[in-house]
Amino acid sequence: MKVTIIGTGYVGLTTGVTLAFLGHDVTCLDVDQAKIAQLKNGISPIYEPHLDELLAQVKPKINFTVNVEEALTRAEVIFIAVGTPSLPDGNPNLTYLKSAAQSIGANIQSPYVVIVNKSTVPIGSGNWVESLVKDAYRAQNKNQKSQFVVASNPEFLREGSALADMLYADRVVVGSDDRKGVQVLRDLYKPLIEQTFQSPVFLPRPEGLVSVHFLSSDLQSAELIKYAANAFLALKVSFINEISELSEKVGADITHVARGIGLDSRIGNRFLQAGIGWGGSCFGKDTAALITTGKEYGLQMPITQAARDVNTRQRTRMVEILANELKILKGRKIGILGLAFKPETDDLRDAPAYELAQKLIERGAKVVGFDPIAMDRAKKEWTSLDIVYEKNAEAVFDEADAVLLVTEWNEFRKINFESCVSKMKNKLILDGRSFYEKAPFQKLGVKLITLGRSQ
Ligand SMILES: NC(=O)c1ccc[n+]([C@@H]2O[C@H](COP(=O)([O-])OP(=O)(O)OC[C@H]3O[C@@H](n4cnc5c(N)ncnc54)[C@H](O)[C@@H]3O)[C@@H](O)[C@H]2O)c1
Repeated sequence: MKVTIIGTGYVGLTTGVTLAFLGHDVTCLDVDQAKIAQLKNGISPIYEPHLDELLAQVKPKINFTVNVEEALTRAEVIFIAVGTPSLPDGNPNLTYLKSAAQSIGANIQSPYVVIVNKSTVPIGSGNWVESLVKDAYRAQNKNQKSQFVVASNPEFLREGSALADMLYADRVVVGSDDRKGVQVLRDLYKPLIEQTFQSPVFLPRPEGLVSVHFLSSDLQSAELIKYAANAFLALKVSFINEISELSEKVGADITHVARGIGLDSRIGNRFLQAGIGWGGSCFGKDTAALITTGKEYGLQMPITQAARDVNTRQRTRMVEILANELKILKGRKIGILGLAFKPETDDLRDAPAYELAQKLIERGAKVVGFDPIAMDRAKKEWTSLDIVYEKNAEAVFDEADAVLLVTEWNEFRKINFESCVSKMKNKLILDGRSFYEKAPFQKLGVKLITLGRSQ
């Protein structure tokens, strides 16, 4: 099928590459000229494991452009994957969605077009997109021949394992009130649903996976599924963090507690890692959007609100613990290991490291940081923060009064602690991710404080 993806970010690019890999003719459209120029040269503008390799493999099937007409006139399926960041009131900013919908209406010419919302959008946005497309279509096209339908196909990928999450998804959800539209999308995803494609060598199929669930629903349900899924995962994280604080007080070890809970198959062990809390572009904005949607209908969402409050508290606690240990933060040198909101991505949106650095700088500390992948992006995007970026993880320890482990990159396990801690002014490490074992640090005379573990 001829597929166009509007918005070539984390979701749009992964979707485009995956669909090209499944054999479709894909055009990726973006307003960002620099991004498109990079992609035309075969370079991914984001860091995502294996994306460069798959991009090279699908080159004959994928095209990148900033030209709206070229991208949309012949498209049979159009995915909208533009950003929907939070506004200060908690509502998502739908400016990009509106502009994408209007471009679609002004340019489509194929006889039957399925317009698919992959962006996470408030409930009811599908209908809104339909009316925007209709108005733009009528305004531009004198001899109206195209028929179009709008569907919702929420995305559940995780940055850092985006390609595997898409190729070997837990489920594909499609919401539409038009049966033909649902069928077109089922056909589009057929090789993925039936797992008939040959796996890339670098992304082998999980053992035992023979098919992927395909769930079709009405438009609103599909839109709500995405928000409800993210809110549920967010509250799972906040729940274990709430328990972790109690765990510290009563002398328990949260990693044991989490394992004991997670082995219950009704609960499951994922999203039960206690620590500094969630970050990233989705949980914060999607829980905020769910709460504001509830408000529109006169409904309080106290559970979702509590998940947000606990998450905010986790970030503050890290600074409180540090202040408690060092007494004075002014003039202290604090090292931060990891800037991205999680490992295996360069995404810095709502990264806990930002807020931590900001709070520490406000209190007069000097912050030095290192991230194996996200540092160049941080230098460009965090210009308001006076962070000194170090060339490697080891340098973060030099003369430091404390080092905070914020993002659990695997390479931070391989640090030569013996030599690093000998250079610290004060041998204090705060582990925000339950990443390190205590014993080796005890031997080195380091005080290791782990969120959720009694000290
Ligand atoms: N990032 C994730 O992990 C993730 C996971 C699931 C769902 N989502 C949702 O997917 C959507 C996209 O997220 P993302 O992280 O990929 O965003 P992103 O910011 O990485 O990418 C959005 C892209 O859209 C482009 N764009 C904006 N307006 C455009 C227009 N009118 N025409 C063409 N291009 C335009 C931007 O230039 C940008 O490249 C959001 O709604 C998000 O909530 C994200």
